Amino acid sequence: MFKKLNKKKKNQPIESNSEIDLHNVPNHVAIIMDGNGRWAKQRKLPRIKGHYQGMQTIKKITKEASDLGIKYLTLYAFSTENWTRPKNEVNYIMNLPVNFLKTFLPELIENNVKVETIGFLKELPKATLEAIDKAKEKTKTNTGLKLIFAINYGGRAEIVHSVKSIYEKLSSEGSSSDQITEQMINEYLMTHSYPDPDLLIRTSGEQRISNFLIWQVSYSEFIFNEKFWPDFDKEELINCIKIYQSRQRRFGGL
Ligand code: FPP
Repeated sequence: MFKKLNKKKKNQPIESNSEIDLHNVPNHVAIIMDGNGRWAKQRKLPRIKGHYQGMQTIKKITKEASDLGIKYLTLYAFSTENWTRPKNEVNYIMNLPVNFLKTFLPELIENNVKVETIGFLKELPKATLEAIDKAKEKTKTNTGLKLIFAINYGGRAEIVHSVKSIYEKLSSEGSSSDQITEQMINEYLMTHSYPDPDLLIRTSGEQRISNFLIWQVSYSEFIFNEKFWPDFDKEELINCIKIYQSRQRRFGGL
């Protein structure tokens, strides 16, 4: 006979009514914002409507992350592999920063949020780059939440880029590979000025990394949330943080 298991829903906090511990909020949260297309499909809408709605979620979650005292929020907005999507979808996503930042920039400034990016930005359309540069410029002295958009970003490409730069440095100095350490590789990554993510969230129920921050998430806590990104909200974020707080991080120790 099988014993009837006391079923606890996956990824539910131990005490769902418990308060969030504001002294143990993850310093760096990274999010794979997945499910925009399926959210639209469910509603018989074109995929781009899902991305539009996803952008609205970014606004809400940024505000919430800032209010909670999260210091770094890294969002996977466009991967090096996303160029293979239909042209109209790629164009729409590339236009999002232009439209979004027009309306959202004043709020970001008001909330002391600093906009930053990781990724191969040179390959972006001119208008996209200009909108991003403007947001960075206008928020550069802000000291609150760092909102880091990963755009045209891929973890493997980032590591290749880092290794090439290290090789160039060492060969120009005539130094040997003995100089190469984990710290050195870190210093040559696009994320060199950020701590590693404490918490990685992926929405939409998929359980993959999809080439996102593959070096940096070595000791991050992973949470796979069932909601499509346009439906992810304050309650879901708080729930994720409670789950994070119920975990024991050991970093390879005991
Ligand atoms: C994943 O959903 C989402 C994306 C590939 C893009 C999301 C990007 C934004 C909402 C904002 C972009 C912002 C900037 C600043 C460039 P999916 O389309 O893969 O969903 P699916 O898996 O259901 O098809």
